Amino acid sequence: MLQKVVRSTVIDAPIERVWAVLRDFNSHDQWHTVVDESRIEGGERSDQVGCVRSFALKDGHRIREQLLTLDDREFKSTYCIVEATVPLQRYVATVTLKPVTDGNRTFWHWESSFATPPGMERELRDMVATGVYEAGFENLRRHLAQGADLLPRSAQPMPTALPVACRRAVQRAYGGPEALVAEHAEAPAPGPGEVRIRQRAIGVNYFDVYLRKGWIPGMLPLPGTPGMEAAGTVIDVGPGVSGLMPGDRVAYLGPVPGAYASVRCVPAEWAVRLPPQVDDDTAAALLLKGLTADMLLRDLGRVGPGTRLLLHAAAGGVGLLVAAWARRLGATVIGTTSSEAKARVAREHGCQHVIVTRDYRFANEVQRLCGGADVIVDGLGDAAGEQNLAALAPCGHWISLGQATGGLQPVDPDRLVQKSATFSRPVIFAYLSSPAQRLDRTQRLWAALADGSLHPPVIERYTLDAAADAHARLESRLSVGPLILVA
Ligand SMILES: NC(=O)c1ccc[n+]([C@@H]2O[C@H](COP(=O)([O-])OP(=O)(O)OC[C@H]3O[C@@H](n4cnc5c(N)ncnc54)[C@H](OP(=O)(O)O)[C@@H]3O)[C@@H](O)[C@H]2O)c1
Repeated sequence: MLQKVVRSTVIDAPIERVWAVLRDFNSHDQWHTVVDESRIEGGERSDQVGCVRSFALKDGHRIREQLLTLDDREFKSTYCIVEATVPLQRYVATVTLKPVTDGNRTFWHWESSFATPPGMERELRDMVATGVYEAGFENLRRHLAQGADLLPRSAQPMPTALPVACRRAVQRAYGGPEALVAEHAEAPAPGPGEVRIRQRAIGVNYFDVYLRKGWIPGMLPLPGTPGMEAAGTVIDVGPGVSGLMPGDRVAYLGPVPGAYASVRCVPAEWAVRLPPQVDDDTAAALLLKGLTADMLLRDLGRVGPGTRLLLHAAAGGVGLLVAAWARRLGATVIGTTSSEAKARVAREHGCQHVIVTRDYRFANEVQRLCGGADVIVDGLGDAAGEQNLAALAPCGHWISLGQATGGLQPVDPDRLVQKSATFSRPVIFAYLSSPAQRLDRTQRLWAALADGSLHPPVIERYTLDAAADAHARLESRLSVGPLILVA
């Protein structure tokens, strides 16, 4: 099926001036930031119908395009791709300008149709729409505002990317959910090694609550924007970035907050390209939590057939993923939740037993059910400390993952020695120290989704402007599964 992309904008310049740039089929390397170099083949003029331009993109791709029509009275041109290293097939595009009636402004309409290999429809549509057309509008606007089109070609500056308007959630004080306030902002051009991403979905993690409350002030100086992960489309890339290009659909997680925004620059090495079957919402909901589950089960818990796993907040974002995956690995999964309704969901996602408790008393029941836990996955912290020690089996491993109830008191090694137990306090980012490790874990996560080891949980969605509501919900203990912000 043919894909269609249509974009339009208004440029603050007279139509003759805009057309003078666009009718030159060889002008793109002067104003479009994705184009590295462009030349017309065979020494033909760049407004000669039938001429072929050959250009290289900054990411290394090469494209040859042929001018099919050029109409100076209608301000319209049509061109097609004759050969490309990008898999755009039967690509035909039309550029049309019209004068805006209220003054010296120009309406610019850009549309195309093309075919793609199966499964790449969305990725390539996003690439054309965002990386080529929307970025092109911004770039030409800047080119004209600088008067660069009035200079001789040899004197025209190389195009540089502009800041992009965005929306983000900011806090100016530590405190409750109301500390998060949405505002307009600008995302700067990507620096060396960075990609700028138009974020469609942003993961909400309990860690964001700790930051908002000011429990780790060194990580979120004020004013600050929380958020450790998001998914969306690359707008442009900074110097030195290879392997990602404008239009690529990506998700990322990283150890520096700032994800609660509609556009953000991040190091390219944080990002992973998304396969077609994983949409932006799913990626933002599952990436950080899923990689955490992978770290817990594979690296720390070494969970396998017969492992007795005690999992707190079993119906939470991390909890549902750990429950399902551990069950698939053959573990006996005992969850805790604060309500029967959550217990039902936890059972649907793999828990064989669920202990419903609001006051963190579970150790006797764990001992009765299975004789003690080999592994405890504990995001509760302070309120569950004593009970965790009591619930451990001999040689058990208590993984202290987080502290939703407050900071954990120091654990006395002599209490551990009584059961020859071990204790760990991992942070997922330390387990993603190389791009290869990140890719490896991510591929395992998508494979687990594809083969049914993980059931995609229901996602609770909030707008970016309602980030405070999402936090209030997470802290209320009423949320089930992952929460995301939609930008
Ligand atoms: N170390 C790491 O790298 C890492 C990575 C990801 C997540 N984490 C940690 O993993 C845990 C789960 O994270 P998540 O984002 O998936 O959150 P979540 O589990 O969806 O939400 C937190 C859950 O904690 C339980 N809880 C118990 N007492 C609570 C209290 N007093 N206030 C609020 N919640 C309470 C609630 O479940 P019930 O009502 O059913 O008890 C609540 O739903 C968090 O501790 C987080 O910090 C750590």
